[in-house]
Amino acid sequence: MAQRDENSVHAIVTDPPYALVEYEDKDHDKMRQGQGGLWRIPPSFDGSQRSPLPRFTVLTPKEREKLNTFFKAFAYQTQRILVPGGHLVIAANPLLSTTVFYACETSGMEKRGELIRIVKTLRGGDRPKGAETEFSDVSVMPRSSWEPWGLFRKPISEKTVAQNLRKWGTGGFRRISDDEPFRDIFEAAPARSPERDLAPHPSLKPQKLMRYIVRGVLPLSRGVVYDPFCGSGSTLAAAANLGLSAIGTERDVQYLTMAHQAIPRLSQIKIST
Ligand SMILES: C[S@@+](CC[C@H](N)C(=O)[O-])C[C@H]1O[C@@H](n2cnc3c(N)ncnc32)[C@H](O)[C@@H]1O
Repeated sequence: MAQRDENSVHAIVTDPPYALVEYEDKDHDKMRQGQGGLWRIPPSFDGSQRSPLPRFTVLTPKEREKLNTFFKAFAYQTQRILVPGGHLVIAANPLLSTTVFYACETSGMEKRGELIRIVKTLRGGDRPKGAETEFSDVSVMPRSSWEPWGLFRKPISEKTVAQNLRKWGTGGFRRISDDEPFRDIFEAAPARSPERDLAPHPSLKPQKLMRYIVRGVLPLSRGVVYDPFCGSGSTLAAAANLGLSAIGTERDVQYLTMAHQAIPRLSQIKIST
């Protein structure tokens, strides 16, 4: 992000690493060997294999501080490289969203709301570990059924949104249709086969959701969408499906290779709306 020019992307759509350590080599290795660490492998109670989930509840105060520092730097770069009126749409989770949203707001971006993805996850809902029978009526945390995505906008540079749209192509969201504005609630189940077969990334986002967001975030269907933590490329595949321009960066070479192979095929997948 630091290498990009100021005012050079029209939207940022991303799902960042939330514990920061979870994608470091040590924890990556544990996840890939199915050994846990920060990654919990959920039970396979219906015969289908579950994707690993990071356990954000195990973060130490020092790791939380690191998270804070990381997102402050991220938010600074975001508001620098977005064109005026450009939006950041950032995936979070109910445990850590306050940290990242606060960093985004204090960087000078405007909070414009949250997109709530309705999704049944395997996060939370467990009985107390080692005492499941004794406390069979207790869930330590709620089973999570939603995912917040922060919606932030770099302030417009012109007097009105209309003028900003003319100058930069940004400032608002593309409507769903003439009758329907862009909405802040969206139901999208976790990515499954065939998407998961093409892109077996532990945090793969479904095309149904990514196409909804990427379409919405370029109000005039022009400009460049950037995903700085692109993983297996679900944001870029969504843009390709919609005929929009997108760029991405990814630190892990295995995921980058996965993205190169998956993007053209993911972009062709038909989804039910
Ligand atoms: C939550 S995943 C994104 C998954 C993606 N949305 C998808 O559908 O495949 C976050 C990604 O950020 C990558 N990452 C972590 N730190 C990074 C960094 N400093 N720069 C770029 N990518 C990074 C991780 O390797 C991981 O693939």
